[in-house]
Amino acid sequence: MTDTANPSAPLATVILAAGKGTRMKSDTHKVLHCIAGRSMLDHLLASAHELAPSRQVVVAGHGRDQLEKALGGRADIALQEPQLGTGHAVQMAQQALADFSGDVLILYGDVPFVRAATMRAMLARLNAADNPAVVVLGFEPEDALQYGRIIASHGRIEKMVEHKDATEDERACRLCNSGLMAVKSADLWDLLARVGNDNAQGEYYLTDIVNIANADGRICAVVVTDDADEVAGINSRGELAQAEARWQARRRVQAMADGATLVAPDTVWFSWDTVIGRDVVVEPNVIFGPGVRVADHVTIHAFSHLEGATVASRADIGPYARLRPGADIREKAKVGNFVEIKNAVMGEGAKANHLTYVGDAEVGAGANLGAGTITCNYNGYFKHRTIIGERAFIGSNSSLIAPITIGADAIVAAGSAVTRDVAPGELRMVRAEQMVKPGWADQFHDLMRKKKAEKLPKKG
Ligand code: UD1
Ligand code: CA
Repeated sequence: MTDTANPSAPLATVILAAGKGTRMKSDTHKVLHCIAGRSMLDHLLASAHELAPSRQVVVAGHGRDQLEKALGGRADIALQEPQLGTGHAVQMAQQALADFSGDVLILYGDVPFVRAATMRAMLARLNAADNPAVVVLGFEPEDALQYGRIIASHGRIEKMVEHKDATEDERACRLCNSGLMAVKSADLWDLLARVGNDNAQGEYYLTDIVNIANADGRICAVVVTDDADEVAGINSRGELAQAEARWQARRRVQAMADGATLVAPDTVWFSWDTVIGRDVVVEPNVIFGPGVRVADHVTIHAFSHLEGATVASRADIGPYARLRPGADIREKAKVGNFVEIKNAVMGEGAKANHLTYVGDAEVGAGANLGAGTITCNYNGYFKHRTIIGERAFIGSNSSLIAPITIGADAIVAAGSAVTRDVAPGELRMVRAEQMVKPGWADQFHDLMRKKKAEKLPKKG
């Protein structure tokens, strides 16, 4: 059927998101809850984007302001108030699409993982030679209970019926309505105008457009997906967690297929936009927040947390490393245990092996930061930068009080609190003079033991 598709028909998407989302028990709009660090709405928009729609309308009711903010103009918003059913919801988009002529794809904001390929298949079917009035995306779930049923034979729909309105025979039918539909604008508004609400729920059912078109003698077709997961709706926190788990499972498989070793795949959490190269080893319990790019041949040891970070080839991260936004780890650099890097470059081969904070800094190639080095970047009001030259050596437990520049090949002695710039090649030692008193401690202990003995109560 795909070969008869008309790829040039303009496309509009209508995303339904006016439902209350009561079961989420949330102040955040249901479709703005995240999976892999990205909202359901953005997952759906990204898939729809692959089809290059010329228009996008989101139908909103509750939490409309949140949607408006999240969309930032990427789609028109049509208000549905009150919510009188799915058919009524789509009708609310008519005004925004008054000047649109082409294919309309109806999506649900809380069904975020429909693949672009499935959307394409629906549109291809819509534009096939037999000219169906409506194309419905169907699926066969394990438990069909609550879904609307599609009574069809040979891909042609005879009737759509909601579970609450269905007879026992109809309920026995396993083909269910995902809710998603494709309809040409030339048919859609006319069909919707004829939908009534004389049914078990007193709602204007979108599904009724199929029955109306059938009565007109038009064909209505079902496209069946064999991937029930892609049409799974998310209505509760439990379903959100299940969707997250399924997403992660797929992403882990993909990362391994792309050449990364995941030592314990189930313990690695990716973000929607994680980029990870070949021959990368990811040890157990590593978390990728948004915005991470990892080049080839990188090792990320156990319990590391990365977000907004770039890691170049052959760098070594962790265990227990934290890379925060703006961390730019260059080739062969080493970020060891309990080291936090924020908005800072670790130059090629630079090392911070233990217990260090590097923030708002540039660390030159080959520099070595000793255990407990801290860039003191914040004075409570402003952030300041620390520049460390190539091959500089910062002794353990040093505080570099920004703004400050440490020259190339300089040495900062352990325990220094450095407030002024250090020239290239200089040794800087900022410590108090040492006091040496041989035998003092022995005398002290003797004295104290004696005092303590005098104070003990005498035994009888
Ligand atoms: C709908 C379908 C049902 C299908 C099921 C799949 C109808 C009549 N029924 O049922 O056949 O099996 O989805 O999940 O279409 N919405 C609005 N405004 C409204 C009502 C709903 O925007 O007035 C939105 C919701 O936010 C949601 C979507 O439409 O994204 C589906 O609404 P929901 O109430 O879950 O539909 P169901 O009754 O479950
Ligand atoms: Ca539902």
